[in-house]
Amino acid sequence: MNKSIGPEVKVVYGRLWRYVTPHKLIGFIAVIGMAATAAIEAALVYLLQPLMDDALVAKNLEQAQWIPIAFMGIFVLRGLSGFATEMSLGWIGRRVISDLRCHVFDKFLTLPIRFFDSQAAGPLLSRMTYNVEMVAESVTSVVTIAVRDTLTVIAAFGVMIYHSPTLTIFVAILFPIVAVIVRLLGVAFRRYSSRIQDSVGDVTQVSDEVIRGNWVVKAFGGYKYERDRFAEADGRNFKQNMKLIRVRSLGVAVTQVVFGFGIALVIYLAGRQSIEGVLSPGQFISFFSAMMLMLQPVRRITNVNATLQRGVAAADSLFMILDQENEQDKGRFEKERADGDVVFDHIDFTYGDAEDPVIRDLRVEVAAGSTLAIVGHSGSGKSTLVSLLPRFYDVDAGEIRLDGIPITEYSLASLRNNISVVSQDVVLFNDTIRANLAYGQLEPPSEEELLKAAEAAHVLEFVNDLPLGLDTIVGDRGVLLSGGQRQRIAIGRALLKNAPVLILDEATSALDTHSERRIQDALNALMENRTTLVIAHRLSTVEKADRIIVLDAGRIVESGNHAQLLAKNGHYAALYRMQFSEETQDE
Ligand SMILES: Nc1ncnc2c1ncn2[C@@H]1O[C@H](COP(=O)(O)OP(=O)(O)O)[C@@H](O)[C@H]1O
Ligand SMILES: [Mg+2]
Repeated sequence: MNKSIGPEVKVVYGRLWRYVTPHKLIGFIAVIGMAATAAIEAALVYLLQPLMDDALVAKNLEQAQWIPIAFMGIFVLRGLSGFATEMSLGWIGRRVISDLRCHVFDKFLTLPIRFFDSQAAGPLLSRMTYNVEMVAESVTSVVTIAVRDTLTVIAAFGVMIYHSPTLTIFVAILFPIVAVIVRLLGVAFRRYSSRIQDSVGDVTQVSDEVIRGNWVVKAFGGYKYERDRFAEADGRNFKQNMKLIRVRSLGVAVTQVVFGFGIALVIYLAGRQSIEGVLSPGQFISFFSAMMLMLQPVRRITNVNATLQRGVAAADSLFMILDQENEQDKGRFEKERADGDVVFDHIDFTYGDAEDPVIRDLRVEVAAGSTLAIVGHSGSGKSTLVSLLPRFYDVDAGEIRLDGIPITEYSLASLRNNISVVSQDVVLFNDTIRANLAYGQLEPPSEEELLKAAEAAHVLEFVNDLPLGLDTIVGDRGVLLSGGQRQRIAIGRALLKNAPVLILDEATSALDTHSERRIQDALNALMENRTTLVIAHRLSTVEKADRIIVLDAGRIVESGNHAQLLAKNGHYAALYRMQFSEETQDE
């Protein structure tokens, strides 16, 4: 059997094994339980011989009065050992599941954003659920096969040899032939099982999108499109499962037929031995029962490879996640509170495998406490530029410095601790408004601080109308709130964080002109004494910036303050005029 286990399988199983070894004591109980089960079952078939010969054939119940009592004892013991085995193996299995899940989850927290850009959420989530269960199932099955099944086979063999060595030799020749046939059928196994996992991921992905994007489906009548997409993913899953079931059940059927023929031969030989007086009826029954007892365990042992492969396929894709490189966090420098002097020094940046750089040779300095506004058409690289400062992505060339020190020399925690971000897409967690405001704060803020921030971000304004106030749950991703309300919470969160560097990426885009003006006051107050990088779709918020840069295809095409840029009558002036005419239309 071991010959077919490749080095890759060994490596994966070796790694899985490390999830099991911490539970040695429980494992020990499981091994004892399994060994006891094997011994008890063998004892059971052994007892059939005296029951038959001494009691039934001899028609002498007195001689065999102890047999029913022995049977009762054996069944009690079997119940006990079975219970101990199931409980301890179940415990280990669930622990492995829980540990693996925690590891993968922790990994999700430390993987770079780049990783999530390149992966759909569905398959990642299904690995957390489906694959992890598969792995644990495979581990406990393999352990059961290695201990209980192996011992059962040995014990049953012992009983058989005891009763009839010649018949045992015959069976010993027959079994391996059957095993080879069964193995040949199991080869196709691994291919299918890994494909099934992928197709489960597709099913999750489509369902997840429909659940999240439900209103888009309704508004645009995407029923047919989604149904077709789901039918395709689901159909693929069905087909692959059926292939697996076909291989598996064909294996079982052929095995049974081959076994049937073998058993007929055994019966024939046993019959002859019995006529020759070598084998008593009791011995025959006991021998035969021992052989039947072996069938299932032997089948599982010959199939152990498939069980292994199934676990390995599932574990492989989990370990692939665990082996991904984490965010680079080699910097040691820590600064409690930076002054906020930011320099982008000739930086270049390209997303993943994309061909064109999104930021090209960009140089700009933002003095501590000043405001830099970034304007430009959508897709010009504004959001990308500001996302480089908290190191959501690392630059390809050039350097970004905070207080004169390259940001790569800061520890990620310290760097990000000095930066507040209100991003274009607000992310809220399914928790209370209060928890969302205080999100990520090491020490929970005082009620006073919290209220102050909520007030300034005009969160209180709508919170006061909610029956549960700040303790209202916002729903999955904040669905229970309007876009503007979500944005105000995001602004409140940034206010509360009170970091020296502030990034506002279209922070007020979801607000109407009226609320925007009022929140702008709060933001203006916030921007005082703070280095601010602001991206605004309304140029009125940009006017007061100390410096404005106009981006086009990742390059600075214009820079200066509002008056200077208007006087230049170039890109900025054009953008401004366009905006201005829109605003007058608005009102
Ligand atoms: N995560 C990403 N992966 C790959 N390309 C991206 C990613 N985010 C943005 N881009 C691309 O980078 C360019 C600039 O995007 P962005 O910085 O969001 O522009 P802006 O904020 O100015 O509208 C766009 O062409 C966009 O398609
Ligand atoms: Mg943007």
